Amino acid sequence: MTASAPDSQASRAAGDPRDPLGLAADAPLLAAWLNWTEQARAGRLTPMGTPGHKQRQDLTGAVVAGDAPLYGGLDSIKHADHLRAEAEARAAALWGAGWCRFSVAGSTHGNQAFCLAIGQPGQEVIITRTLHRSLLLGLVLAGLRPVWVRPEIDPRSGLPAAVAVQTVRDALAAHPGACGVILGDPSYVGTTGDLAGHARAAHEAGVPLVVDAAWAGYLGFHPDLPRHAIAAGADAMVTSAHKTLPAYTQGALLLARTERLDVARLDRAFEATHTTSPAGSILASVDAARALLARDGPRLCARLLAAVAGARRRLREVPGVDVLDGPGVDPAKLVVLLAGTGANGNLVEADLIAAGMPVEMGDRDTVIPIPAIADDEQRIAAFTEVLVASIERRRGVPRRPAAAAAWTVRPQTVLSPREAFFARNETVTAGAAIGRVSAELIAPYPPGVPVLAPGELIAADAVAALREVTADGGRIAYAADPTLATFQVVAA
Ligand SMILES: Cc1ncc(COP(=O)(O)O)c(C=O)c1O
Repeated sequence: MTASAPDSQASRAAGDPRDPLGLAADAPLLAAWLNWTEQARAGRLTPMGTPGHKQRQDLTGAVVAGDAPLYGGLDSIKHADHLRAEAEARAAALWGAGWCRFSVAGSTHGNQAFCLAIGQPGQEVIITRTLHRSLLLGLVLAGLRPVWVRPEIDPRSGLPAAVAVQTVRDALAAHPGACGVILGDPSYVGTTGDLAGHARAAHEAGVPLVVDAAWAGYLGFHPDLPRHAIAAGADAMVTSAHKTLPAYTQGALLLARTERLDVARLDRAFEATHTTSPAGSILASVDAARALLARDGPRLCARLLAAVAGARRRLREVPGVDVLDGPGVDPAKLVVLLAGTGANGNLVEADLIAAGMPVEMGDRDTVIPIPAIADDEQRIAAFTEVLVASIERRRGVPRRPAAAAAWTVRPQTVLSPREAFFARNETVTAGAAIGRVSAELIAPYPPGVPVLAPGELIAADAVAALREVTADGGRIAYAADPTLATFQVVAA
């Protein structure tokens, strides 16, 4: 026996404290989740399917509370795809897309699905080098060969701006066989470019534009925000519902226009690496976030924009502090530049963690909190005061900001990411690794942008830049040896 129809009375009851805003009336997966979990709470379920906790909390405890499978939970195994499709169709309509899928595996999965959807193994793709690692592994999975394009670097902050349209046009002209263009926009630091211009450039070359918009699920929902990628003309975009929208961790939205991308291929690419047991709770939270945006998006975005503007004003009053701002920057993003204060952002981050206010990123020169539509003015103002106090405590000798290696890396690609990933490899000392071909992906995290990628020549300056990250208290991720004493290289 599975849960009854998603539009049951239980899930739609006005004033249900588990759905305080009454979103379930417009969110079929949320309604089904409310119904299933209410039945579980009332002891009316004896599930003889997965998950193995059987809705009991006397074994592994509260950690499984609220967990409900899509299949055989939110709806029957035979019908649950209809329920899912109905929720996804509402999201497609909201973003003006022809195709939408909800993922329980983040923008990581979305990026990889789009890589699998746009080309043939061995084909070139125009792609930003300041890409998240998920895209790089997408190239490995799909066998695509990168033609790197780079963003401009803002000399004042050392941070990446957007990739220029002319850069992409030149790359398309030089590589007429490329199967598409993949950009990250907004960038990790909230800089955003001319997506409409990129879409025109891609379309004139007869290929799709795919945009990794992991950080900005709210774009397009207020007139003072940039349009989202689909509205700007992109053929596909992925965004992490869990990053800036109020959804469960891992929830993501994949959206596509279907003029240049084939629906059956998109679905195949999506399913290729998605679990066959998606968590109904995650999917329902994406559905709820979509219903919230549809109803209250403009109001919540206005609140977010006002709160971030207030934080930027306050931070500018602090001697030496700067914030990223102006045209080409997402106005809902808060990127705090510390070089002028001499404070080390790694120490400021530690203060914020100790104050119960963990941020997305702190490196030597930068602190990046993630304000979201769930934040109100008070929360952001309170955070800003704690941040200011920490900066004052950690103040030092002002310095020039250093552009992080992740933004400036200009690697020499010798093998495709896929060839290097599967090549025989060996471990060599750091000294012996210089000039060899990397078999591994190494990235300071966050932001997770590779400084070394499989197939690239290991350059002395890249190794030195990685060492600097660790010396400043940063974390090196994905390296087989995070101390950087040895490297994995393609066997000679
Ligand atoms: C630009 C970018 N794309 C994709 C991702 C992956 O997102 P997720 O954590 O939702 O898988 C991240 C994660 O930080 C990211 O920064």
